[in-house]
This record gives sequence, C-alpha cells and structure tokens, in this order.
Amino acid sequence: MKRKFTALFIAVIIGMNGVTPATAMTQPDAAYAKHAMVASNHPIASQIGVDVLKKGGNAVDAAIAVGLALAVVYPEAGNIGGGGFMLIRKPDGTATSIDYREMAPAAATRDMYVDEKGELKRGEGGSTVGYRASGVPGTLSGFEMAFKKYGSGKVRWSELVEPARAVAANGYVLTHRLANLFQDYKQTLSKYPESNRIFLRNGRYFQAGEVLRQPDLARTLARVKLRGAADFYRGETARLIAADMKANDGLITLDDLRNYKARERSPLRGNYRGHEIVTMAPPSSGGVVLLQVLNMLEGFNMRAAGSGSAARFHLLTETFRRAFADRAEYMADPDFADVPAEQLIDKKYAEQRRSSIKLDRADRSASIKFGNASAMKEGSETTHFNVVDKDGMVVSNTYTINDLYGSRVTIKGTGVLMNDEMDDFAARPGTPNIYGLIQGERNKVEGGKRPLSSMTPTIVLTRDGNFWFATGARGGPRIISAVTQIVQNVIDYDMNLQEAISAPRIHHQWLPDELWQEKYGMSPDTRSILERYGHKFRERQDNVASATGIMRVIPRQSANAAASAGATDSGPANSGSGMLLGAIDPRSDGAAIGY
Ligand code: DON
Repeated sequence: MKRKFTALFIAVIIGMNGVTPATAMTQPDAAYAKHAMVASNHPIASQIGVDVLKKGGNAVDAAIAVGLALAVVYPEAGNIGGGGFMLIRKPDGTATSIDYREMAPAAATRDMYVDEKGELKRGEGGSTVGYRASGVPGTLSGFEMAFKKYGSGKVRWSELVEPARAVAANGYVLTHRLANLFQDYKQTLSKYPESNRIFLRNGRYFQAGEVLRQPDLARTLARVKLRGAADFYRGETARLIAADMKANDGLITLDDLRNYKARERSPLRGNYRGHEIVTMAPPSSGGVVLLQVLNMLEGFNMRAAGSGSAARFHLLTETFRRAFADRAEYMADPDFADVPAEQLIDKKYAEQRRSSIKLDRADRSASIKFGNASAMKEGSETTHFNVVDKDGMVVSNTYTINDLYGSRVTIKGTGVLMNDEMDDFAARPGTPNIYGLIQGERNKVEGGKRPLSSMTPTIVLTRDGNFWFATGARGGPRIISAVTQIVQNVIDYDMNLQEAISAPRIHHQWLPDELWQEKYGMSPDTRSILERYGHKFRERQDNVASATGIMRVIPRQSANAAASAGATDSGPANSGSGMLLGAIDPRSDGAAIGY
C-alpha cells in the first residue's frame, strides 16, 4: 500500500503578551495543511486535537480533546470550571451550537453583590473573586452533549479525556509567559490555599522551563474519563465542589450541579456583502452585535475607505457605539428576558441606526441611546480554538472562566479552578463590570440564569455557501470588535486570515466613551484626523483581544501574497480544493497544527 506522505505544519508563536506586533506587515508563521487543522492557544492542546483527528475522530471529537487539554496547559482560561459556546458546521452545511454557559446558582439574587450602603462588594463576596463569583460550570456538560450528538462515534470518550489527564499527571514545561502570568496574579491567587499551593507553589514561584504537575486535576480527569460528566455534576467531584462551597460561604450546591443543563441552540445567521455569517445566538451578545455592526457597515464603501484609514476607524467606532448601546439595553439570557435578537440583526434596523452617523464627526455616547428594536416586526480569560476535519466539519469554540484564573478559587481536592462568570451579570444594573461594560435590568442576577456573554465563535461562508473561515477571540467585549474587524479584513480588504488576525484593530463599546487603539496600531496622522472628528482616545494603548482561526485558501492566496480582489470572493469548494491555513494571533501564544 502506498504510504501517503503527510507533513506536519507547526507554527508556534511565543509569548508577546502585552505587546502588539509592530505592524500587520510582519506576517507571523501561518500553518498550512491539506486535510485538517487545529488552531488553539497551546501547542500541546493543538497536537492532542490532531492526534484525535488522525485516529478517525471528527472535528467535534478533536475539539473536546483540545478543550480538556487547555484546562491543563492553559489554566488562565482553559477550563472545566467555566463555560462557553461551541459552534458546529457539519459537512452537509447545516450548523448548530452548544450553549454551555454557566448558570447562576439557585440561591443567587439580584442584589447579592451590593452592600448595605448600596455599593458594589469588592473582593471575597463580590462578583469577581472568591467563592460567590462562580456560576455553575457548563464545560463538561456541553462537551458531553456535543460528543453524544455530533461526535464521530469512532473514538471513545475516554480517549478524549486521557491525553489531558496524562499531561496533568506528568506535567508540562512552563513558558516564560505562563510562569510570569501566575506571578502577575499572585495577590489574589495566594488568598486561596489550593490555588496558592498549585499555581504559586506557596510562594516558591515557578520559573520558565520548570514543570507544572497537577495531580489533583489528573485525579478529577481520571474520574471524568471513567464516568463522564456525571462525575462532575452528580459524583465525587460534585460532592467536593459542594462541600468546598459550603465551607466558604459559596452558593453552589449539589442540586445546582445536578440541575445544570447545556442547551443546543440554533446559531444566528446573517450576511455581509453576500457572505453568510454563522455565529452565536444569545445568551452571548457576540453574534448579535457582530451582525448589527456588519449590517451598518455594509451601507458604506469600506473597501474604498481603506483598512488603516481614519475613515474606517471612525465608522467602526460609530457603529460599535450604537450596537453596544443596544447591547446594554436589550441583551441577556433569552430564557429569562425578552431579547429581540432577530429585530436587532434586521438590515432595516441597521439602516435606521446607521442614518444618524456623520462621516466626519464623532458622536458623544451620552447622546446615543439604544434604538427602538422592539418596534421592528418580528423577523424571521477566555480562549478560542478551531478545528476543521478532513470531511469539512468545522468547530469554532470559545470558552472561559471569565477573568484570568477566574474567581482564583481552586476547589479543594479537585484541582479545578472556578470561574467568576457572575460578573458578566449586571451586579448592579447601570454600574460597569470588570470590562467597563454597562449592563441593564434584563441582565440582572437571577437564580438559574446565564450571564450575558460577548463570546463570538463565528464561521464565514464563501459566496457559494461553502466553508471559508472560522474565527473567534478572547478579550471580553473586545472579542466582538476583534471578530468584526477580522471578518471585514478578509471580505473588504482581501487579507488572508493570518493577515486579518495580525492587523491592528480598534475598540469602542459605547461607554466609557473612549476609542481604544493598540500600541503602534495607528499612525499619528490617522489619530490626529480622528481627534479632529472629536474622538477621545483611551490613554493606555493595549491589545484589542486575541484571536485564532482556520481558513480554507485557494492556491493563489498565501501567507505572503494576499489574493487579488475578487479572488477570495468565490472561495474554494467545501473540501478537496485549496489548503487549510491555521492562524494564531501574534498578540498571544498558540499553535496551529495540521496534516
Ligand atoms: O463571556 C464573556 O464575554 C467574558 N466572560 C469573556 C471573558 C474574556 O474574554 C477574558 N479574556 N481575556
């Protein structure tokens, strides 16, 4: 039998956390492969995913193995103590999504984070750190649902858990970035004995090159390997979580764990210049805001404006301003609040919202209120990873424990770091959360409810309806602006996905009324035009999110030569033609690996 030669393409982009690359012109190494690809924030996790694909697993199987591995090798965001969204496109072109967002414990109440003086509680007891900051995790429930409904049936659950368990038990070498990141969070991590012991070694801090072993987490994963999600929600792990919560005034009980339910939801579908966009529906706001902004931008000649121009940044800012004002008013868990998602993504509504934008003057956010979406007729520390398998099945998954290292609490005896997703509720409606986001009454805290998210796992199709690219990001509300600009970079400016992800970007979220630029991300003369229009810049110049993605490219496109206009428009056929390009943001670690 002829042995097929398969090359392994690896692109590892080592820690540039906190530093924006000088320009988009420095093309980081993108990975190319013929058959299948995994792009995630850690090379070990990506390799584990590729191994599953090579064994005959499909994209969903591989995504689960990647997600479990990231819980071990990317502890600031990868998790089984958090939740997220898995968007799936099947080879037949149909799409679905698994919502495994955390749920508030039953005892949660609207004012649980407000003290007697009406002030937001800080520290332990508040919505950002400590035992009360966690929602009931959804990750294992979501992964199990995805496995049962959409897995290939060719690999066993235990085979997806084992690689993560082995890495937890045997350990892995810490990069400079991760060793430093533990220390960056030492003030809060050290308050929780298990986190202090595992991640800070009780003050003998890890250095780059040392090995991190997580035996407690390995034991938890061994139980999950054997008994599935049932262990986490009804078994030994559930008992350990409930006991530690009880001992520390947390709210999550055995009943809360037992009652957690992942939900399968229809993805949102929109269209930008003839390309179908498949993205996440509420309880994430990501898809709605993405489609709203793209709908508004469609009315402008963005190609003529140019990718790095003041004109583009101005229009992005004004469209973000309007969509984020709507987000604050309308968006929440649709199982609890009336969320007019279809109306918000209606092209006619975008027309209305767009009509007040001036081409050469910034509006003040104080004068931009939410739009009248209800009047429209009923219309028809996070990490993102992507998998495309040999049959063209695509997974675009974003999951998180919210802030880096979540609530900083590691549950005793489990090695499981818990989320602080309760801060994604409006802890006090009208008061900004850790991302400065204003959230409204609809997103108030209620038992059993899912907090509003900005996660935006997205899949974009070619004009003839085939898979083109999948992307998503970490970075709270900046996820939405990043994904918007990435989609636009590809469609309006003919960039390949690596170029689109690397390119400098901006962010605006209505309030605070400030335009966020990246370090070296904008020329001084562009900035001065925007200031002349009346835009106020945020003082600190930080990265706007960090993304990963996979694109099917036709041979004419390469990492070094963007396709000529139009060449990207029709795109390749669903399978067979072209190569897969795996893209990692130079703003963070990661590896795209394919075969
Ligand atoms: O769901 C959300 O929108 C947030 N919890 C995401 C947090 C995040 O992206 C943190 N990443 N750096």
